[in-house]
Amino acid sequence: MAHNLAAFLYLVSGILFILALRGLSHPTTSRRGNTYGMIGMAIAIGTTLILASPGFGGLVLILVGLAMGGGAGAYIAQRIPMTAMPQLVAAFHSLVGLAAVLVAAAAIYTPSSFGIGEVGSIHAQALIEMSLGVAIGAITFTGSIIAFLKLDGRMSGKPIMLPGRHALNAGLGLALVVLVVVLVATESHFVFWLIVALSLLLGVLIIIPIGGADMPVVVSMLNSYSGWAAAGIGFTLGNLALIITGALVGSSGAILSYIMCKGMNRSFISVILGGFGGETAAAADDGIERTVKQGSADDAAFLMQNASKVIIVPGYGMAVAQAQHALRELADTLKEAGVEVSYAIHPVAGRMPGHMNVLLAEANVPYDEVFELEDINSAFAQADVAYVIGANDVTNPAARDDPSSPIYGMPILDVDKAKTCLFVKRSLGSGYAGIDNTLFYKDGTMMLLGDAKKMTEEIVKAMEH
Ligand code: TAP
Repeated sequence: MAHNLAAFLYLVSGILFILALRGLSHPTTSRRGNTYGMIGMAIAIGTTLILASPGFGGLVLILVGLAMGGGAGAYIAQRIPMTAMPQLVAAFHSLVGLAAVLVAAAAIYTPSSFGIGEVGSIHAQALIEMSLGVAIGAITFTGSIIAFLKLDGRMSGKPIMLPGRHALNAGLGLALVVLVVVLVATESHFVFWLIVALSLLLGVLIIIPIGGADMPVVVSMLNSYSGWAAAGIGFTLGNLALIITGALVGSSGAILSYIMCKGMNRSFISVILGGFGGETAAAADDGIERTVKQGSADDAAFLMQNASKVIIVPGYGMAVAQAQHALRELADTLKEAGVEVSYAIHPVAGRMPGHMNVLLAEANVPYDEVFELEDINSAFAQADVAYVIGANDVTNPAARDDPSSPIYGMPILDVDKAKTCLFVKRSLGSGYAGIDNTLFYKDGTMMLLGDAKKMTEEIVKAMEH
């Protein structure tokens, strides 16, 4: 295939990937976005296969690899619950990192098959690209494994703070830069593997001090790293599609990390430096006896039926209980009774960006009833009921009022401004950030203790009587 035609096809696939990202930015266009992405990937893979003309044996090997990787990916994706998506994404990123390391190793041992020179005389530019790709890839590999273990609960979410860790990390970073220079000068395989080893260690050291509450940002940051690692391999392989895709993943991951930091009011630097979010639930220890008003499904049904405006605030617990369909039924019943219903979505509600939107869309909740934080927050003051279903941190007034709180400054949904706040959760336990929520003890709050789906179904039943 003429190289110009291949470059054109790679460009087409790049444009399709950009359209895919654009489509994925809204629930109504996300299916179309996915289709664009799949077509773009098919064109990129097809072009690469034809361009490389691997011969029969090579083709069989590639197809077997595709079937194994694709089959495993499809199998896992079908079985994984939505709530476990962040750790799945972290696990997948680790593979991108590993792939970058393996491609770089293949390139340094057989440079001629990559068109980057001969053993002992690899072009300096290729060596620089290769060493950057291998370093970022190895950091992504071990960093993503630690993120996976923390998110999956196989390792404590608490930050592990080594003494002098900043100096240690800076030292390792500096050593890596020196080794890259040595590798470019000597092309030593030993130095190559030393870069791999130090980068693997740095990946672990960068992620272990980061606490559970900051993990989502870390996953999106590792997503960004994996994109840059892929772009690095793209340069080594001279593959335009990989460079474009890597740059897209790298920059979109970086932008997402920034948006998430803003949603949690955390500075990116403080996330990277770590140490936040390992606190355990701080039960109110100010000596004041706190009382909680507990209600039943009947009480909630009565309050909501007599309301004129109800705002629903979904959170992680709704996802765990898979309560979105019951919730939609509740909203339908209320609307039939003439109650105005809307949904308020916090940017970091749930465990991944857009988590709540996806679940509500699955239950066919009309998009025009779903509002982002900044568009609905002022409406709580006019609402009769805020129905908080499985959300916790995103409503915690400490983030607004208590400068000593670890989540101080994070924007919250002002559910406490509604006349009544109905709180559905199973206990008085804390949410992801491990912080007590003073809202449970406020006068206007009624706790509905139970599973989100069961409680919502019971409220619907009570309203029908
Ligand atoms: P959380 O603060 O994590 O609270 C969720 C609450 O749901 C828990 O307190 C839990 O209380 C309750 N729950 C769990 N299972 C339930 C069930 N079956 N039925 C009823 N309730 C149930 O959730 P949130 O308000 O959505 O806040 C999200 C948090 O996660 C933030 O701290 C955010 O920073 C963090 N985070 C966000 C993301 C993104 S990007 N969205 C990713 C990862 C982490 P009980 O145990 O008492 O039931």
